[in-house]
Amino acid sequence: MDHFLYQNGELFAEDVSVAEIAKVVKTPFYLYSTATLLRHFNLFDEALAWGPHLVCYAMKAASNQAILKTLAEAGAGMDVVSGGEYARAIAAGVPGDKIVFSGVGKTHEEIKAALTGGIRQFNVESEPEMRVISEVAVSLGVVAPITIRVNPDVDAKTHAKIATGKSENKFGIPIAKARAVYAEAAALPGIKIVGIDVHIGSQLTELEPFEKAYAKVADLTETLRADGHTIERLDLGGGLGIPYTRSNEAPPLPMEYGQMIQRSLGHLGCEIEIEPGRLIAGNAGILVSSVIYLKNGEGRDFLILDAAMNDLIRPAMYEAHHDIIAVEEPIAGVDQQPYDIVGPVCETGDTFAKQRNLPPLTAGDLVAFRSAGAYGAVMSSEYNSRPLIPEVLVKDDHYAVIRARPTIDEMINRDTIPSWL
Ligand code: LLP
Repeated sequence: MDHFLYQNGELFAEDVSVAEIAKVVKTPFYLYSTATLLRHFNLFDEALAWGPHLVCYAMKAASNQAILKTLAEAGAGMDVVSGGEYARAIAAGVPGDKIVFSGVGKTHEEIKAALTGGIRQFNVESEPEMRVISEVAVSLGVVAPITIRVNPDVDAKTHAKIATGKSENKFGIPIAKARAVYAEAAALPGIKIVGIDVHIGSQLTELEPFEKAYAKVADLTETLRADGHTIERLDLGGGLGIPYTRSNEAPPLPMEYGQMIQRSLGHLGCEIEIEPGRLIAGNAGILVSSVIYLKNGEGRDFLILDAAMNDLIRPAMYEAHHDIIAVEEPIAGVDQQPYDIVGPVCETGDTFAKQRNLPPLTAGDLVAFRSAGAYGAVMSSEYNSRPLIPEVLVKDDHYAVIRARPTIDEMINRDTIPSWL
């Protein structure tokens, strides 16, 4: 459920008219709903209320400071994967002891920054990384809390580019090697084992792959405890999928996910951490765009929008589907017609949807891409020298621009001309 609904014939974000925002901010822009962000965070928090837990929002999904602050104030921890994300979490007021640091290539500098600023745990992805964390911690005279990410070799049954839990993927250590790696960790100075980490992929639409992975984690917890290690936390990653089409998709609900975690792991008495990104931010954001031209091609009509693949890369990159709706509510019974919906970028890949049925639209009309809050703005670029588009946050009946559109001069002035030119 989200808070982007038609009221009096036009699309609203909570209690604000999307068309009114478009008049001021100018399209294209991302628009987020505070109520939806909080609702989704709270669903996870409630789903794990059966035991000690921390919901660490995977801020790679949407990392604007205003979004982070909204979630942090509700009690969220953060999952970060770079020094930049760590700094963003700290800047948004998230205490270090609520930040977990994931990612396969943490650098010496990133590890140092996190140990200096405070960190709940590093989710270690390899033996070499573990040794560097140990060295940096010893040099700073501190102890680094760690989990080790295990790769359970489970098929997440999702898009190949976002599946991470098979042995051919670059993530984690093979679960079969876990005992040896934990033994090495226990012998290293400057690190303290606190638990186990696992994350098998993103946009999972069934519980079964999670269940398989968590069963392996449950066994491993008992084995490692028998080896004498302290396993007090289980970080179960993110990955729960969202419905991208309103009609026929019904991925499991956070409550069902939480109950499955309790069934699989509740008996171990560990603190549970999860790292959801998409489910918190995805349906809490839309991308609002205008039709620049309606072009009648051969056998098909193109709606050429002012948003493009540089603003929302998911259709080009993952063949992802986003529902696209008219901001003005279609009149009941009006005939829909098929359009190819494209952006202005000079690539055929800059196609958002083919033969998508919409009410008749023409130049100047507004459309909204639904479910664009996660992996939308954060993955955008300035390809074709198109400025990064604004982000806007709505709360009840008011809104604020939370990232302004840069001017073209600002973009040009970021370049520097070398002395020989
Ligand atoms: N934890 C780790 C270690 C991750 O790698 C990810 C996502 C998450 C948590 C959050 O997963 P989520 O709850 O959002 O599924 N750009 C792609 C998605 C990439 C996901 C990468 N890792 C997309 O647009 O679909």
